[in-house]
Amino acid sequence: MNLSTTYLSLKLANPIIVASGPLTCSLDGVRKCAANRAGAVVLRSLFEEQLRAETAALTEAISEQAVSHGEASEYLRAGVGLRYATRDYLQLIRAAKQETDLPVIASINCVTSQSWDDFAREVEAAGADALELNIALFAETAAEGAAALEARYARIVAAARRAVRLPIAVKLGPHFTSLPAVVEALHRAGAAGFVLFNRYYAPTIDIETMAVRLGSNRSVPSDLTAPLRATSLLSGRVNADFSANSGVHSGEDVVRAVLAGASAAHVLTALLAKGVEEMPRMLDAMAGWMERHGFASLSQFRGRLSQAVNPEASLFSRYQYMSALGAGGQ
Ligand SMILES: Cc1cc2nc3c(=O)[nH]c(=O)nc-3n(C[C@H](O)[C@H](O)[C@H](O)COP(=O)(O)O)c2cc1C
Repeated sequence: MNLSTTYLSLKLANPIIVASGPLTCSLDGVRKCAANRAGAVVLRSLFEEQLRAETAALTEAISEQAVSHGEASEYLRAGVGLRYATRDYLQLIRAAKQETDLPVIASINCVTSQSWDDFAREVEAAGADALELNIALFAETAAEGAAALEARYARIVAAARRAVRLPIAVKLGPHFTSLPAVVEALHRAGAAGFVLFNRYYAPTIDIETMAVRLGSNRSVPSDLTAPLRATSLLSGRVNADFSANSGVHSGEDVVRAVLAGASAAHVLTALLAKGVEEMPRMLDAMAGWMERHGFASLSQFRGRLSQAVNPEASLFSRYQYMSALGAGGQ
């Protein structure tokens, strides 16, 4: 059974991509993903704020020595700070490429279109196969409207496009008024693929201590509805690759994502809950389904339930229950 797929122009042995997070923040973690047949890995995100904080700390350290080392400020201008701050991350990329055959996707969490482009270039030089931009901008006041906020997303993608030749994927959250317009704009800005959707850090309120604390950061299978809906809507209409994310918990869920038009599926919660050993079981379930339905490769059924090719998939567009259905209590 051929489970291979192409995502961001990369040939993957299968469509399961271990999503950015605790399973991909060490060489040992990446090795385990490889041993359990991951199609690719996305390394944990390096946050732009981390880059800036470390650069600021280094700037301070160097400026303290500036009296004795006149050339220190020249080094700073040359971006030495960024290189210093990111060496562990770059080392992880190099080691992962040396020790495994996996496609390795680096991830940067960007909030501006500056200060991380040097790092992106170094990610490329270290041997990463692609770059995933984890962008989550939220309006905290009424001063910035949707168009201005979305323009910031596009500026970030364009900056990455200028910085590297690597294929770029953008990982987005689900909260856009017009997701198709945003995806089109980011595709024009240089994104070759989209990860739909990120699941964000989820704070809640502890009513005993009356304090904000971390809520559940794990997904549940029903979270897959939104990624399936978006993938079905966009795949085949935007000339980009899609990977479904949030709520992919089984091989059957990966099949659902591919039927909707995805080239791959990012998975984390299921692997945190059941261990990375769950991956081969998910792949076996996919292969079993394909065998039962007479498919020898993913391309034979990818996108069958995308709205571009199947009118039935427009059921995904229904957001509201029809009143008769609601009244019937079904
Ligand atoms: C503990 C934890 C850490 C995560 N760290 C990152 C991160 O650094 N970068 C990122 O893009 N997503 C991060 N995520 C989000 C996951 O990559 C993934 O998008 C999300 O968990 C939804 O997939 P799932 O339903 O398979 O869990 C993290 C998730 C968890 C639970």
